[in-house]
Amino acid sequence: MRKFQIINGPNLNLLGKREPAVYGHTSFEDYLEVLRATYPSFKIDYYQSNAEGELIDKIHETGFSYDGIILNAGAYTHTSVALRDAIQAVEAPVVEVHISNVHAREEFRRCSLISAVCKGVIAGFGLKSYELALLAL
Ligand code: DQA
Repeated sequence: MRKFQIINGPNLNLLGKREPAVYGHTSFEDYLEVLRATYPSFKIDYYQSNAEGELIDKIHETGFSYDGIILNAGAYTHTSVALRDAIQAVEAPVVEVHISNVHAREEFRRCSLISAVCKGVIAGFGLKSYELALLAL
């Protein structure tokens, strides 16, 4: 069975409640249920943390044994050299995902420190961005 790890970064535990006009009304747990039911032949693991080091630990833990990582690093996308180094250090392909179209928002969201070391980037399709990343992997 192919194994994929979804990793969500800071503030994404509030999906469904946080700025619904930008991020929608669905919690990630509800979306995950649908995603798993749609792809029963994949093992889809999920992890969320607001702490940068814990996201790095999860990348290290899964990055040598999973078939791919789907990473929404939240605001750390725009700031974290340490996350970039972690992605570069592991073997599994990492797809960078964003729910919103970061290029249509504030200027600082256009800069990603992780894109260059990811396999690809998917942004702007709401929660569907995660499914598109899964299909890409
Ligand atoms: C986000 C976009 C980031 O700029 C922001 O900091 C987030 C969520 C998205 O999924 O659209 O927390 O990664």
